Amino acid sequence: MRISNISWTAHQEIKSIHELPASGEGGNLPALTELVKTENKPGRVRSILVAHVLHTAIEYVELVNSIYPVMKVVAVPYSADPTAVKSLRDRGFEVVVPESVEDTFVQSRDAVLAALSDSSEPLIAQEVGGYLAKFTDELTAHDHFIGIVEDTNNGHWRYEQHEPHRCPVLSMAQSPLKDVEDTIIGDAVVYSIERVFRENYSSVLQGARCGVIGFGKIGTSSAIALKGREGVVSVYDINPSKNMRAKVEGFFPLPLQELLTQTDVVIGATGQTSVRLVDMPYIKDGAILVSASSKRVEFALDEFKKACASVDALDEVSTRYLRKDGTSFIVLNDGTPINFRDKSILGTILDMIYCELFVCMREVANGRAKASLHHSPPPLQDEVAKAWLRHHSPAFQKLPNDKVWDYPKSLELGRPK
Ligand SMILES: NC(=O)c1ccc[n+]([C@@H]2O[C@H](COP(=O)([O-])OP(=O)(O)OC[C@H]3O[C@@H](n4cnc5c(N)ncnc54)[C@H](O)[C@@H]3O)[C@@H](O)[C@H]2O)c1
Repeated sequence: MRISNISWTAHQEIKSIHELPASGEGGNLPALTELVKTENKPGRVRSILVAHVLHTAIEYVELVNSIYPVMKVVAVPYSADPTAVKSLRDRGFEVVVPESVEDTFVQSRDAVLAALSDSSEPLIAQEVGGYLAKFTDELTAHDHFIGIVEDTNNGHWRYEQHEPHRCPVLSMAQSPLKDVEDTIIGDAVVYSIERVFRENYSSVLQGARCGVIGFGKIGTSSAIALKGREGVVSVYDINPSKNMRAKVEGFFPLPLQELLTQTDVVIGATGQTSVRLVDMPYIKDGAILVSASSKRVEFALDEFKKACASVDALDEVSTRYLRKDGTSFIVLNDGTPINFRDKSILGTILDMIYCELFVCMREVANGRAKASLHHSPPPLQDEVAKAWLRHHSPAFQKLPNDKVWDYPKSLELGRPK
């Protein structure tokens, strides 16, 4: 209870029911509180965290710190909530907030190297976005650097791009548990867009022509959420079969140029630069571009700027790009993921994500992860899912003999004879 009680006083606003501390031990992260006890040698391995520092991260950082002492937190700048950063600093954590996404690469590398030269005790890095992917040779030159845990797809792709890695890089980006998270990201993205519409433009999403670029996990959940707000949703994916799936699922696949010409709200959810300079002329006059993906990658903003007559901030979230022909479009949140304006994910799903990050760290800390890039293995996911059910699903808590508890061994029980 200690942690959650403190974090409420740091945030004076009224909390939603999902944010209220759960009863009993473990505050908002009871499953994680259980799982941290599975590390037999707490304190032996130190850690560096490159993380989204929203208020929901405070309890996580404290729990990790109790097992793998946290040397420094590098806060991804576009998701660094000043109150949460202060709150961590007040608790004695060293938190660096880089000046930009580019600077986050530098600060992440520097934080790990500084911790490696400060002490010869083992060090692990847990990160969100592939910020260390380019530097693994340099880090692995230190014998006591024992590996990296990565959270996101964008980070995973970055580690793939920079292979080979001589240290373990354990990625949970493509874990089935992440799929659960991804289904709620779209809703968070659309909530944040809707808030801008209502508060800044006195407008609504109902009836708006919306386009989603990238029909993967985040794009699909964004398209579903937009449809739920009665937007008229078109989709474009570079992969033809994704457009086929979009059509069958009731979305309206369009070639990129058509999508850009026709839609008023464009969500980029590819994790790549999906709208490049060559596409800029097709963006509808007055359209609003929003990223649901990572960093500032989705739109070629620096190139747009050079090709435009002017770029002006309209308010705290909207930037207008005025083209030389007099038409314009708006980019929200400087092209960084919009959902981080509004605390992104909340509730019990966070406990699950943090649990998987922790068990991945435990795997690396105990030398069970092999050098090079790997996906988190299914037994870890089963362990997390069971811990989560024990704490967040009263129906399962009451039935300790249910077959889920012995999964996957219990699969044998149902095999046809
Ligand atoms: N905003 C958030 O809170 C949040 C949360 C999780 C993940 N992410 C990020 O969102 C991004 C997408 O993640 P995902 O899990 O949905 O990935 P995914 O692989 O499931 O989906 C990406 C889709 O984009 C398509 N694509 C790739 N390049 C394209 C291009 N140039 N044009 C059109 N389509 C293209 C791919 O074919 C694929 O269908 C990643 O950067 C990921 O890290 C953001």
